[in-house]
Amino acid sequence: MKVSIVGAGYVGLITGVCLADKGHEVICVDKVPERIAMINNKHSPIYEPGLDELLERVIGKGTFVATLDMAWAINVSDITIVAVGTPYREQGIDLSQIEEVSKEIGLILREKESYHVVCIKSTVVPSTTDTYIANIIEKFSEKYVGDFGLCMNPEFLREGNAIEDFMNPDRIVIGANDNKSFSAMKELYGVFKDTPILRTNLRTAEMIKYTTNSLLALLISFSNEIANISEAIGNIDVQEVLTGVCFDKRLNPRINNTLVNPGILAYLAAGCGFGGSCLPKDIKSLMAFSEKTGYVPEIIKATIKINEIQPVKFVQRMEREIGDLSNKKIAVLGLAFKPETDDIRESPSIKIIKRLIEKGADVFACDPVAVENAKRLKSLDVKYSRNYQDALKGADACVLVTKWKEYESIRPDEFKQLMKTPVVFDGRRVYDKALFESSGIRYFGIGLVEERN
Ligand code: UDX
Repeated sequence: MKVSIVGAGYVGLITGVCLADKGHEVICVDKVPERIAMINNKHSPIYEPGLDELLERVIGKGTFVATLDMAWAINVSDITIVAVGTPYREQGIDLSQIEEVSKEIGLILREKESYHVVCIKSTVVPSTTDTYIANIIEKFSEKYVGDFGLCMNPEFLREGNAIEDFMNPDRIVIGANDNKSFSAMKELYGVFKDTPILRTNLRTAEMIKYTTNSLLALLISFSNEIANISEAIGNIDVQEVLTGVCFDKRLNPRINNTLVNPGILAYLAAGCGFGGSCLPKDIKSLMAFSEKTGYVPEIIKATIKINEIQPVKFVQRMEREIGDLSNKKIAVLGLAFKPETDDIRESPSIKIIKRLIEKGADVFACDPVAVENAKRLKSLDVKYSRNYQDALKGADACVLVTKWKEYESIRPDEFKQLMKTPVVFDGRRVYDKALFESSGIRYFGIGLVEERN
């Protein structure tokens, strides 16, 4: 099929190249000329493992192109997927990009004679597609929904894993209020054989996305709450607690005597909190929107609150254990919000660094890929390095925030050789406390403190 995608950002670009690789003809539209030029030169403007190779392949095959010309893209395609950003602002979700694009699409559809499906992939709060977006497109196209198709198809792409997630979807959710638009979407996704397609109405599709991310965030904040209770009582290891919980066969069934270990259990882990471009903004948007409609979502509120206090609490712990942080050299391992990405948006690491600076510490931070992004945060007085050795050299203490594999494999000897005083705060519980302590390192893990009395 011929597909146009509006928004060559993270979701739009991944969606575009993957659909092109699956045999569709894809035109990606964006309003930033440099971005378009870069993409057409086979260079991805975003960091995502495998994306450059895929881009090269689909451009080489001639099934993918990027353009500034939305009218052309829509006129020569059957479906337009909208994948522009929907950030969270002070009062709730910011739909300004959606508004602008919906107007443009409406104006183009006014002139287009053949049937066209508009599919919203951007994450929008439930009821946005069937009211707000529908109204704008109807107004500017002077047509009604039905004359053109309107669908909602949420994305479930994890940064760092997005191509694999797109190419091997666990489910495809298509919100559609009529059969004609649904059939077009079903044909588009027909290339993903054996994947369950769940058809819902538009609002339910929107809600599935929010509920999925709220559940992930909830599991993380729940684990952190258990960590905080464990720390307050003392001599309880939250990691063992959660391991004990995860043996429950209702969470982790055993098949042929082997534990299945469902991926969701990875979110039942204590740490410095969650971050990224989706979880924080999505749950805040859902909370704000829910409150506007008259329902106060207590669990989601608590999920956000625990996530906000978690980095603060960890720095307090550092102060408790090693005293005044002013003029101490603190090495921070990891800037990205999680491994395998250069994304520092809402990263717990940045929150911890800000706190350490407030306390007067000298911060030396490292990350294998996210340093350039962090440097753009001009207000932060931090010495950056790509390798951890430079950050650890001469440090009074170190705090591990991002679970990069290369940090997990740092041996106790290396910490001892490089640091002035080998004190390790493990914000992700990756190191073995007994091993580190027997090697002469002062080790402090999140969700684990010695008996209090
Ligand atoms: C998330 C959703 O997973 C994805 O389905 C959605 O479409 C976009 O938002 P992403 O933002 O890439 O994807 O992050 P994800 O990998 O889910 O991580 C979110 C947070 O959970 C991070 O802070 C991460 O550190 C944490 N996490 C992730 C864990 O605690 N354990 C894990 O195993 C994975």
